[in-house]
Amino acid sequence: MERRSFLAALAASGVATNGVPARGETERALREVAAGKGMWFGAAAGWPLLRDNEIYARQFATECNMLVPENVLKMQVVHPEPERYNFEPGDFLAAFCQKHGMKMRGHTLVWHQQMAPWFQGVATRENARRLLEEHIRAVAGHYRGKIESWDVVNEAIDVKDGIAGGLRKTPWFELLGPEYIDFAFRAARAVDGEARLVYNDYGLDYADEGTAAKQEAVLRLLRGMLERKVPLDGFGTQAHLNVASREKFKPEALRKFLGEVAALGLKIYVTELDVIDQALPDDVEARDRGVAEFYEAYLSAALDVKAVVAVLTWGLTDRYTWLARRHARASGAPIRPLPLDREYGRKPAWRAIGRAMEGRRG
Ligand code: G3I
Repeated sequence: MERRSFLAALAASGVATNGVPARGETERALREVAAGKGMWFGAAAGWPLLRDNEIYARQFATECNMLVPENVLKMQVVHPEPERYNFEPGDFLAAFCQKHGMKMRGHTLVWHQQMAPWFQGVATRENARRLLEEHIRAVAGHYRGKIESWDVVNEAIDVKDGIAGGLRKTPWFELLGPEYIDFAFRAARAVDGEARLVYNDYGLDYADEGTAAKQEAVLRLLRGMLERKVPLDGFGTQAHLNVASREKFKPEALRKFLGEVAALGLKIYVTELDVIDQALPDDVEARDRGVAEFYEAYLSAALDVKAVVAVLTWGLTDRYTWLARRHARASGAPIRPLPLDREYGRKPAWRAIGRAMEGRRG
C-alpha cells in the first residue's frame, strides 16, 4: 500500500489522524533508525489483527524490521490436538515478514503457560521426551528458514520454587527433570541449523535483591548450558517495566548483568519491552513523558552493551496490549504503555526509543 492510500485508509476508517504528528512525516521510522545501527526494532503482533486491520498491519510494516507473534506459535494455538498442528496464523505472519523485509522471531517452543489443552491428559513420564521432541521437530521444522531466532525455552527460572539452580517447577520439569531444557535446545538445533536459539526470561531489570537472585540463577543456567555444549546462541530479556519501580532501575546494574551475559558469547534480545503507567497521573502529557523517560533510560543502558542485537516491544499500539486487563488504571483511563497511541500516532515513547538507538555508540 502506498503512503497516499494508507492515509486514505486512515481517514476512511474513522480513525483520527491527529495522533500522527506532522513531524512524523519527516522523521525516520524506527526500523530505519535500527538498521542504521546494524540492529533490529520490532514488536509482538496479534493475530488475526495483522490480517484484518489494514492500519495496524501498515504500522508494523512501517516501523518494524522484526516481528514476533504474540500468541500463535505457543503450544496451545499451534498444536491444538496431539496429532494436529495449526500453522495458518504463523504462516500468514511469516509471509507478511517476507513481503515487508522483516525478520521473524519464534515465540515460544517450551513454556509452562498456554500449553496444549490435551497435554495434561496425555503426557506421562514415559512419553514426555517423545512429545517434547515431536512438538519441537514439527514446529521448528515447519518454520525452518523463516525464523531468525527462537525462544526455545521461556521463563524456566523461578527462584521462589526452591528447586536446585533456581529452576521453575513446570510441567516439563516435573516429567523430565532439569534436563528438559538442554533436551529442548538440542531438539531445536537438530531441525533448524540456522535460527539463533534463545533462552528468554523476565524480572531481570532492577537493582534489588530479588532481581539479583534471579539474574544469578539465569547466568548459572546459561553458563551450565554452554559448558555442556548445548546449542545456545542468545538470551532474551523481556523487560516488562513498571514506572512504580522506576527508582529501582539502575543503569549500571543492568549494564553489568547484560555485560555478563555478553561475556558468555551470547547475543542479547530485548524481547518484550513495555512500560506500565499506573504510578503516573492520568494527565496524558505527564504520563507519556514518564513512560518515555523510562524507555530511554532503560534502552540507553541496554544498548551500551554491544551484544544487544534487537529491541522488541510487546505490542506496538496502546490500542492492543496485554496490559490493558492486567494493569488497568484506577480511573478507567486507557493505559499508554507502547510506542504508538490508540490512533496509531507516534508518542514520546516512540521518540525515546529512536533517540536511544540513535545514541548508540560504535
Ligand atoms: O484466543 C482466546 C479467545 O478465543 C478467547 O475468547 C479469550 C477469552 O479470554 O481468550 C483468548 O486467548 C487469550 C490470548 O491471550 C489471546 O488474546 C488468553 O485467554 C490469554 O491468556 C492470552 O494472554 C497472553 C499471555 O501471554 C498468556 O499467558 C497474552 O496475550 C500475551 O501477551 C502474553 O504474552 C506473554 C509472553 O508470551 C511471555 N512473557 C510474558 C508475556 C505477558 O504475559
